[in-house]
Amino acid sequence: MPKYFYITTYGCQMNVHESEKIAGILSELGFEPCNDINDSDIAVFNTCCIRENAENHAYGNIGMLKKLKEKNKNLIIAVGGCLTQQMGKADVLHKKFPYVDIIFGTHNLGNLKQLILKKQNQKKAVIEIEDSEGKICENERPLRTSYPNAWLNITYGCNNFCSYCIVPYVRGRERSRRSEDIIKEAEELVASGYKEITLLGQNVNSFANGTDDISFPELLNRIAAIDGKFRLRFMTSHPKDFSEELAKAIAASDKICKAVHLPVQSGSNAVLKAMNRKYTAEDYLKKVEILRRYVPDCAITTDLIVGFPNETDEDFEDTLKLVKQVGFASAFTFVYSRREGTVAANMDGQIPEDVSKSRIMKLIELVNSLTREQTVKYAGKSVEILCEDFDKKRGLYLGRDEYGRMAYFPSDKNVIGEFVNVKINSANGVSLTGEKVD
Ligand code: SAH
Ligand code: SF4
Ligand code: F3S
Repeated sequence: MPKYFYITTYGCQMNVHESEKIAGILSELGFEPCNDINDSDIAVFNTCCIRENAENHAYGNIGMLKKLKEKNKNLIIAVGGCLTQQMGKADVLHKKFPYVDIIFGTHNLGNLKQLILKKQNQKKAVIEIEDSEGKICENERPLRTSYPNAWLNITYGCNNFCSYCIVPYVRGRERSRRSEDIIKEAEELVASGYKEITLLGQNVNSFANGTDDISFPELLNRIAAIDGKFRLRFMTSHPKDFSEELAKAIAASDKICKAVHLPVQSGSNAVLKAMNRKYTAEDYLKKVEILRRYVPDCAITTDLIVGFPNETDEDFEDTLKLVKQVGFASAFTFVYSRREGTVAANMDGQIPEDVSKSRIMKLIELVNSLTREQTVKYAGKSVEILCEDFDKKRGLYLGRDEYGRMAYFPSDKNVIGEFVNVKINSANGVSLTGEKVD
C-alpha cells in the first residue's frame, strides 16, 4: 500500500523551495505526493510569520486538522517553517494543538527524516527547534514542483535587521553557499531540462560577503555562461548593496532577465531611517538611475510598507511620489504588521488601522494605474513567453516574458516548458492575452 504526503506552504519562494526539499525527504522515506489532505498519511505545514495574517492563516488551518486526526489516528501532522522558529512559538503551538506530532524549526530541516522515524516509534510529540543555524546541506534532493522554473538557494539567513522584520530572528545570520556548488546545481538543472533558474537569498547582492568567493555579478556571469537556452532570475536585491557591476552583468547577458525586484519599503527618509534600511530615497533613485543607464527597459518591481510607526501623511506622500518617479512595473504592498521581538515592535506611534487602510488603498490604486499604463503598451507586440502552465478554467496556456509580465494564449499542443512567441491582442488589467506566432 503506498503512503501519501500532503504539504501546505505559506510565505515566500524560499519556503516554497524548502517545501520541495521536505517533499524530497518524504519521498526518500517512501511517501508519495497526493492532492487531498484527507488521503494523506503525513501532512506537513511549512509556515511563515512575516506578518500577523500569515501567522493566523497557519493557525486557522492547523486548527481545522483536529477532526481529521480524530478520523485518522495514524495521520502524522508536522509543522515546520519560520513560525515554529519564533521565540517561544513551538510551545504555544504544542499547547494550542496537542494533536500535532512533529514541530521542527527552520534550522532542523536537515534532520526531518530522523524526526519522522522518531515519531513513528513514540507516542508523544517530537519537538526540535535548534537555536544555532543549520549547516548548509549540499546533498539535498528536492522534489521540484515548479517546472520549467527551478529555485536555487545561494544564501540563507539575513544580517540586515530591518527594524520591522522577523526574518533575521527566524532564519539566522547570512551564510552563502560556495559558488562551485551553486554552479554545479545550475548545470544539472539546465541539463535536466529546466528553462528558468531563480536564485534565492534574502539579499542576493551580499552573496559571499567577507569570504574569498566570487561576487554576485560574477556568479551570475558564470551561471549565464552555461550552454543551453534558459532564463536566469534572482531575488531579492537590497538597494544598499545594488552595484553598477550588477547592472552591467544584466545588460551584458541575454540570459539574465531584465527584471529586478528592488524593495524600497518607503519613500520617506525619516521612515527609511527608522526602518534601518541604510539608504535614503535619493540613494534609491540613484540606484534606479544606474540600473536604467545600463538596462533602459528593465522592469523594476518593489515591496512597500505603509503604516510604519510614526509615518505621517507627509511621509506617505513621499512614498507616493517615489513610486510615481520610478514607475514600478508592479509592487507588493503591505500594511505594517507588528512583530514581537523586533525593534519596531517597541516603538511608540503605532498607526491606527483605519489610517493604514486608507493609505494602502491609495497606494494600491497608484501601483495598479502604473501597471496598467505599462501593460497597454504591449498591445500588438510580439513577446517571447516561457510557457509555465495551463489554466483549465480559461482553457489557455500561460507564461511570462523576460520582464515578468504574464501572458495567456491558446495552443493545440502542450507547450509547457517551451519558449513561444506570442502576439499580444488584448492588454488590459495586469495580464496579456494573445496568440502564438512563428
Ligand atoms: N529580504 C527581502 C524581503 C523579505 S520579506 C528584502 O529585504 O527585500 C518580504 C517583504 O515583506 C519585505 O520586503 C517587506 O516589504 C515585507 N515585510 C517584512 N516585514 C514586514 C512587517 N513586519 N510588516 C509588513 N510587511 C513586512
Ligand atoms: Fe527582512 Fe530586511 Fe533582511 Fe529583507 S533585508 S529579510 S526586510 S531584515
Ligand atoms: Fe519567508 Fe515568511 Fe519566513 S516570508 S523567510 S517564510 S517569515
